[in-house]
Amino acid sequence: AKVRHFKWEVGALFSTPDCVENVVLGINGQFPGPTIRAKASDTIVVELKNHLHTEGVVIHWHGIRQIGTPWADGTASISQCAINPEETFVYRFKVDRPGTYFYHGHYGMQRSGGLYGSLIVDVADGEKEAFHYDGEINLLLSDWWHKSIYDQMVGLSSNPFRWIGEPQSLLINGRGQYNCSLAAKFTTGVAACPARNRSCQGNAFSVLPNKTYRIRIASTTALASLNLQIGNHKMVVVEADGNYVQPVAVDDMDIYSGESYSVLLTTNQSPSMNYWISLSVRGREPQTRPALAILNYKPNSPAKLPTLPPPVSPRWNDYEHSKSFSNKILALRGTPTPPVKVDRRIVLLNTQNKISGFTKWAINNISLVLPSTPYLGSLKYNLKNAFDAERPPEDFSKDYDVAKPAVNQNSTTGTTIYFLRFNSTVDVILQNANALAANVSEIHPWHLHGHDFWVLGYGEGRFKEEDVKTFNLKNPPYRNTAVIFPYGWTALRFVANNPGAWAFHCHIEPHLHMGMGVVFSEGIRLVGKIPKEALACGKTATILTDQHP
Ligand code: C2O
Ligand code: CU
Repeated sequence: AKVRHFKWEVGALFSTPDCVENVVLGINGQFPGPTIRAKASDTIVVELKNHLHTEGVVIHWHGIRQIGTPWADGTASISQCAINPEETFVYRFKVDRPGTYFYHGHYGMQRSGGLYGSLIVDVADGEKEAFHYDGEINLLLSDWWHKSIYDQMVGLSSNPFRWIGEPQSLLINGRGQYNCSLAAKFTTGVAACPARNRSCQGNAFSVLPNKTYRIRIASTTALASLNLQIGNHKMVVVEADGNYVQPVAVDDMDIYSGESYSVLLTTNQSPSMNYWISLSVRGREPQTRPALAILNYKPNSPAKLPTLPPPVSPRWNDYEHSKSFSNKILALRGTPTPPVKVDRRIVLLNTQNKISGFTKWAINNISLVLPSTPYLGSLKYNLKNAFDAERPPEDFSKDYDVAKPAVNQNSTTGTTIYFLRFNSTVDVILQNANALAANVSEIHPWHLHGHDFWVLGYGEGRFKEEDVKTFNLKNPPYRNTAVIFPYGWTALRFVANNPGAWAFHCHIEPHLHMGMGVVFSEGIRLVGKIPKEALACGKTATILTDQHP
């Protein structure tokens, strides 16, 4: 195993992601940030310098469990203090498993601002993947707003509330087409993208006929749930969130923010032309055009547009289609299976609320706010009053009707923690509900830091005790992100075996910003020496000067 060293500088720069020039957050002058490529059991060392002039920064390595290095998880106020302007923080962690991952800012709405990139871990030398392929394509998916993230954040915390609205563009590897289409000749009412503007010409991915390609796909969207299609081609899903799944052939696939997949594609179509890669919005009425890219069959020119129209995306609110895709994702034989004995069940009700007139999201009626002292440090040093000491609720009231807006829409803010017994097995039931307005319930992709969980099942309406009988304990997918569908529940199981303080939250960035998350902690006594740079704020800063830990 190798140690791979990176020197990164986070900064703001001009870029033209979607035909329109804008300020984006990038790394070493690049947007999206550089791809990290490593082999399983390598150590990654990223010396991260914050070159933003007026705000802190952190970077989260999404899907990497940070076993033994919880301080390198890159969550501001949870695992570390934000890195101040012109300061450097060294992330050092092991990538213990092969898979498709990504990294992103985890402070304010910096992910939405463009701070992200791919992290790909190959099998260790001498090991083999579970499937064969001849080449690879990497797709990092995101969504993009023309309004700055500062405008967006002010709107979210204003009264009256101002929602960020739908994205102007979807991006594939940082590129999209705003207000124009590469397929204009097949679409009425939209202009062709200006050929002189290279930025919106879309990416072309070159392939040879009659080969098998592994397409790695990761979504770091701030909001959008996505559907991906490749004209005329089937995709065989083989990996989800860094774990192998039973191969399943599909014509189109859903990808929620925080998820990653690998699919195999066989280039068995007519080699005389190119094909569309099309990315569209799901689960919210789309006001954003699909992003298009080109699958280029060599020796055709990569600039040659496909002769067929782009594939038609499934109807945005065809939830049955989405559920059927989610239910097809099952673990490959050999994946760890869940323990049968469960020590604790935590039911988390997801609601939209009001707190003195401001619109928030809350979990069991507590809307998460981030404390000035990161949880990991205050737990490790046993600091009093660094967070709310009372225990957050394990369930919600028997007479709460998840199908209707809440009778009392108020909630409170909190910095509470779910303390998990080290090595215990925990079931989490994520319960969706109606939002503030009648007849509205949204999709929320939940992501757990520091662990994978088994997705035991999805159900409709309020979770009931007898639903336990429907849990899949045989081959549940082992993942780090799982979605809850409108008015439904999702059941997860994980083992609390990674000492640290871990975020568990909706991966829709404005939702997290509005409080949609909780914090788990386990095995704090077993946490090793936290680097002092991770503690240089809030109450841990004074500890540093008093005690030189
Ligand atoms: Cu990719 Cu806490 O997020
Ligand atoms: Cu959400």
